[in-house]
Amino acid sequence: MRVSIKKAVHLLKQGTVIAVPTETVYGLGASIDRIGAIQQIFTLKGRPSNNPLIIHVASLDQIYDYTDPTNPFPESFATLGNLFWPGPLTLILPIDISRVPAIARAGLHTAGFRIPNHPLALELLKITGPLVMPSANLSGKPSATCLEHVEMDFGKDFPVLDGGKCRQGVESTILYYQEANKKWEIIRQGALPAEIFVSALGYKPKIAENSTSQKPLCPGQLYRHYAPKAHLHLEKNASKCKGVVIGFKERKYPQATRYFELGAEDHPEQAAEQLYAILRELDQQGITEAYVDMDFPMEGLWLTISERLNKAAQR
Ligand code: TXA
Ligand code: MG
Repeated sequence: MRVSIKKAVHLLKQGTVIAVPTETVYGLGASIDRIGAIQQIFTLKGRPSNNPLIIHVASLDQIYDYTDPTNPFPESFATLGNLFWPGPLTLILPIDISRVPAIARAGLHTAGFRIPNHPLALELLKITGPLVMPSANLSGKPSATCLEHVEMDFGKDFPVLDGGKCRQGVESTILYYQEANKKWEIIRQGALPAEIFVSALGYKPKIAENSTSQKPLCPGQLYRHYAPKAHLHLEKNASKCKGVVIGFKERKYPQATRYFELGAEDHPEQAAEQLYAILRELDQQGITEAYVDMDFPMEGLWLTISERLNKAAQR
């Protein structure tokens, strides 16, 4: 259910969870000081309590409010923030834990921060102050990139601030600072590819291994993600596949019974934008199996798309 920005502010202030548009995907927002609403986010999504939430703010100075004087932010924090915010970047930082409810940070001594690049989100955040927001989807399912997707998961009556279709279509890239070697690492690939950070940092941040240890760098990476009910087959040679095919504009799939287009073969940003809508559409249409054309270069934004598809295909 569409709500105005005025209503959105009112609902958040009274401790209600609402959906908020960002340039990556829609988020399920709650005020950072509303414990009941934060709890509700976990319940609504079916999200494990050890998976922390990202704190969204409107400006860099709001993040400094969370600094732990005994454990300051790395110097490169401001460089990254000034260059990439507002934008699809999340930085994990050491914080003064008394300022963030334990439930929102899943008991960790760090928090993820992001300034989203969406006019409505920024307008809202300027009024409400910091909001915690995970992606607005049921845990494990594809994220939501428009109002209809949010309503599919949470019902027609769920309040949504409608900001249209998300431009990026995949989540923010998450960087984590490794004290040991004084370098940032990518703990979740996202809309910003690793190469983009080279000029700011002087090195290409490494993509961290998916850890299954007791203390993973990115707790969310432990869980199944982005997966439709439909079984996805990832194919290097999709032109030969018989059945439903998810592929690219310039290519031919002579044996396809149905075809979903990710976009042009040299435009990964089109594939990113379309990805979750297509995965959701498979389930909407009752399609149980689909072949995905994976013949694309393993570089840049394609790496994020490949990672999402690999997770989505997990059984
Ligand atoms: O683009 C995005 O980042 C979207 C929009 C709504 O901003 N949000 C999003 O949130 O993707 P979510 O909750 O679906 O994914 C956040 C990821 C999870 O994997 C979580 O484990 C990780 O960020 N995360 C959050 N706080 C963390 C922390 N302190 N340390 C390590 N990982 C953290
Ligand atoms: Mg998510």
